[in-house]
Order: sequence, then C-alpha cells, then structure tokens
Amino acid sequence: MARGVFITLEGADGCGKSTQAELLEKALVARGHEVVRLREPGGTPISEKIRALLLDPANDEMVAECELLLYEASRAQLTRQVIEPALDRGAVVLCDRYYDSTYAYQAGGRGLDDALVRRANQLGSCGCAPDLTLVLDLDASVGYARATSGGADRMEAEGLAFQERVRAAYLRLAAEEPSRVRVVDALGEKDEVTARLLEEIGDRL
Ligand code: TYD
Repeated sequence: MARGVFITLEGADGCGKSTQAELLEKALVARGHEVVRLREPGGTPISEKIRALLLDPANDEMVAECELLLYEASRAQLTRQVIEPALDRGAVVLCDRYYDSTYAYQAGGRGLDDALVRRANQLGSCGCAPDLTLVLDLDASVGYARATSGGADRMEAEGLAFQERVRAAYLRLAAEEPSRVRVVDALGEKDEVTARLLEEIGDRL
C-alpha cells in the first residue's frame, strides 16, 4: 500500500483555518479519499491534556521554553499514535496546524532562536514532514479581530503585534520552501477559499 499524503493547514489566529479544514475534508471525502482530520495541539488523550495547559489564560507565568516543549510533546504523541499509522494505511492526513506553527509562533512570535526551534521541530515531529502546507494568509488585524471577538486564549492574549510577527514568519517559510509551503489568500467567501486550496492540492493526491 502506497504511503498516504500529509497535508497541513496553517495561518495566524482568525484566518479561518478550522472552517476550511472541515470544508476541505468534505471535498476530499467526496472524491473518494479516506481523510483523517486532526488539529494541533490535540488529537490524542495526552495531547488534549497538553492543549488545555497551553491555552489556559491562567497559565500566564509559562516561559517560552516550556511552551515550546509542550507543543513538541503534544506533537510527538499525535505523530506516533495517529499520523504515522494513518499514512501507513494510505490515508490523507489533514492537520490543522503542525510544526510550521511552532516556527511561526515560538520563533517568529516569541523570538526563540530559529535554529533551536527547527531542531525541536525535528524531535516533536519524529521526522514526519508534511508533503504540502497551505498557509491561509490574511491581514493580521482582520484575523485578530475575528479570533478575539469572543475572548482571547493564552496565545491570542499576546496581541496584534505578535500576530503580525507570526504572519511574517509564515511568509518567510513560504519563500524558503516554495514547493511545500503555499500561500493562499484567505479573504473572500468560504467556498472561494476552499476552491483556492483545492487548486493548490491539484494532482498531489
Ligand atoms: P486554537 O484555538 O486551536 O487556534 P486556531 O483555531 O487559530 O488554530 O489554538 C492553538 C493556538 O496555539 C494558536 O494560537 C496557535 C498556537 N500554537 C503555537 O503557538 N505553536 C504551535 O506549535 C501550535 C501547534 C499552535
């Protein structure tokens, strides 16, 4: 059985990723693919517990290094327990965030050393790299207003300038790895954005 295809969706808070992940799943299932849709941090009982620690606004004393390692710990569990077995049986894995989020948020947003974050990503992903990464790109102030309209989690509480650094980091990654990391305009009707994503997926499945 051929290995499946690992697709990740990325973007700053409020870019519409989660909605698009659902729409994309439906479109790919309609084309006859087995799709395993996941989100990070989370997706296993252990990873969901780590997620709660990471997003709880009460944990405002968390230091950047602790944050980095918790995202990686959550990812390692998800990768070994769910992603690798799904790819091994030939499924399409559609993951809402993966290690590029760590680059964008912990290196870009927090300012942790780039090389250190990349090494940590190798460990946390257990060497499992996405085949295709779709970055939903949106003006940071539009995304931020959307994301925080119902209150802010611990990451969103970092503010707009943080989100701007996150967006800039994604654009750097896309420039660095243009065949894997594709930037998609996130502005417009939901279905229009889904169509743009499907166009990027093209014949990669
Ligand atoms: P979530 O509510 O899932 O946000 P979204 O719907 O925008 O994906 O919260 C995940 C938060 O964690 C989000 O602010 C991005 C952040 N994050 C990191 O800082 N580093 C990471 O490695 C990952 C996976 C997420």
